[in-house]
Amino acid sequence: MSTISIIGSGNMATAIGTRAGKHGHTVEILGRNTAKAQALADQIGNGATVGTFGARPAGDIVIVAVQYTGVVDAVANFGDALAGKILVDISNPFNADASGLVSASSAAQEIAAAAPGSAHVVKALNTIFGHVLAKGTPLDAFIAGDSAEAKSAVAAFLESLELRTLDAGGLQAAPLLESAGLLLMGLARNGAGFEIALGAEVR
Ligand SMILES: NC(=O)c1ccc[n+]([C@@H]2O[C@H](COP(=O)([O-])OP(=O)(O)OC[C@H]3O[C@@H](n4cnc5c(N)ncnc54)[C@H](OP(=O)(O)O)[C@@H]3O)[C@@H](O)[C@H]2O)c1
Repeated sequence: MSTISIIGSGNMATAIGTRAGKHGHTVEILGRNTAKAQALADQIGNGATVGTFGARPAGDIVIVAVQYTGVVDAVANFGDALAGKILVDISNPFNADASGLVSASSAAQEIAAAAPGSAHVVKALNTIFGHVLAKGTPLDAFIAGDSAEAKSAVAAFLESLELRTLDAGGLQAAPLLESAGLLLMGLARNGAGFEIALGAEVR
């Protein structure tokens, strides 16, 4: 098991961090609000720690669990501290009423442009509701990214959480996964309800 760093201390940081802690990973929370980060680390338990926001994360995998509007700013704040890291972008660049997308490219590609050149961005987990992830049941997780090695490391982490990983391709597929996030929201609002998860049936 490994050390997983999470930037942010909100709903998704809680769901991912708790699930990772339960499956034997050591979680490090890096939040701009230190008291909130410490409270989340205490809640996660299992040896979870708090890192310094903006300093080099302990884990090779760094999950960026920040709202889209702050995600580039957060990554820019870390700057070279993220050199060589695998950055997992979970964000959905929704408009105010979550009826459309506002990124001209994708949140993942914006993050890749803002991160050090040696960092590898992998899009993942944006198609799973936090409260569904928190149930701890097996789910499908779609990923996309340009580095096969980084995707393999993220897949191994997700599989350790009982999340079946399905690879959608390079980072150019990130807009598709962000549209899938919008699809999830639309389905939830128009009859399926919010206890829903997207998946693929492999025949
Ligand atoms: N919630 C879901 O079901 C779900 C599902 C899939 C994907 N996502 C995506 O996951 C991401 C996080 O969602 P969430 O529900 O966890 O949101 P959240 O509960 O509002 O938490 C967002 C976190 O981002 C931090 N943050 C915001 N702007 C920042 C900035 N400029 N610099 C540093 N930190 C900043 C906040 O810090 P403070 O605590 O200091 O305010 C907070 O800890 C979003 O991009 C969302 O699209 C969410």
